[in-house]
Amino acid sequence: MSMVVIPYPGNEQLAQRLCADLRTELLSLELRHFPDDEVYLRVAGTVGARTVIVACGLDRPNDKSIGLFLLASTLRDLGARKVVLVAPYLPYLRQDKAFQAGESVSARYFARFLSSAFDGLMTVDPHLHRIQNLSEVYSIPTQVVHAAPAISAWIAANLKSPLLIGPDSESEQWVREIAQGVGCPFVVLEKRRHGDRDVAIALPNIGRLRDRTAVLVDDIISTGSTMLATVRHLRNAKAQAPVCIAVHAIFAGDAYAQLSAAGAARIVSCNTITHASNGIDVNRLLVQAIAEMR
Ligand code: R5P
Repeated sequence: MSMVVIPYPGNEQLAQRLCADLRTELLSLELRHFPDDEVYLRVAGTVGARTVIVACGLDRPNDKSIGLFLLASTLRDLGARKVVLVAPYLPYLRQDKAFQAGESVSARYFARFLSSAFDGLMTVDPHLHRIQNLSEVYSIPTQVVHAAPAISAWIAANLKSPLLIGPDSESEQWVREIAQGVGCPFVVLEKRRHGDRDVAIALPNIGRLRDRTAVLVDDIISTGSTMLATVRHLRNAKAQAPVCIAVHAIFAGDAYAQLSAAGAARIVSCNTITHASNGIDVNRLLVQAIAEMR
């Protein structure tokens, strides 16, 4: 399959990595805003009847959404055979049901929006909870890459006698697989969320932690409230300073500084969202998945 890669602004590093490893051509995109803030864009280079991989992580998605829609439409007008979005972080999955009458189920609507613009989607560990498979909401082919092997390898190489801790039932899917990869034990805590930044975590007897390195693992750190509540419990219980690991490092506002100040020994994330905490490479896994698509 003949392929070409184009980065959405801010995703040049990912696009260059894909091009280098897949030996494909890199197209460039000129994107700016008109004085009234409408988006202007122009694709430089020949698209031809090829599959175009659009590299665009979708953290802070609102600004990027209209640009992506215009880009996908432009690529199609320029003759692209298929336009596939590679979004290492896929947003709008947490509001997956109407908890109160009248609420928008944004997970469904955002999926409908991306499905209308692209022919395919590849992402890393989407936050699937009540929606169990992306195909329930996306009408285009989707492919999910799992960060677990890369996280397990990092833990095995960097930490001694770890005990993995998942802060809530949703995290069990990731924590179980990562613990299996490392060959270490794990526990899953109970979380109650009372608001965006108001989270209560129940910590069971931590006797098992005395001789172990506590490693908190979650898919997303957003406000940091989930990790913060868990770290504070552990510190109050005089456990060793825990290591915090996330797949997607959103870190809204000053969440990163707060988590460091709360006593995390180390904060490490996968590079699905560019952040100072990035220490685990998953682009290699994306390259493999795209190569298999060819
Ligand atoms: C929630 O269900 C996720 O697995 C994460 O625990 C959550 O998104 C983290 O959000 P925050 O950092 O805002 O607590």
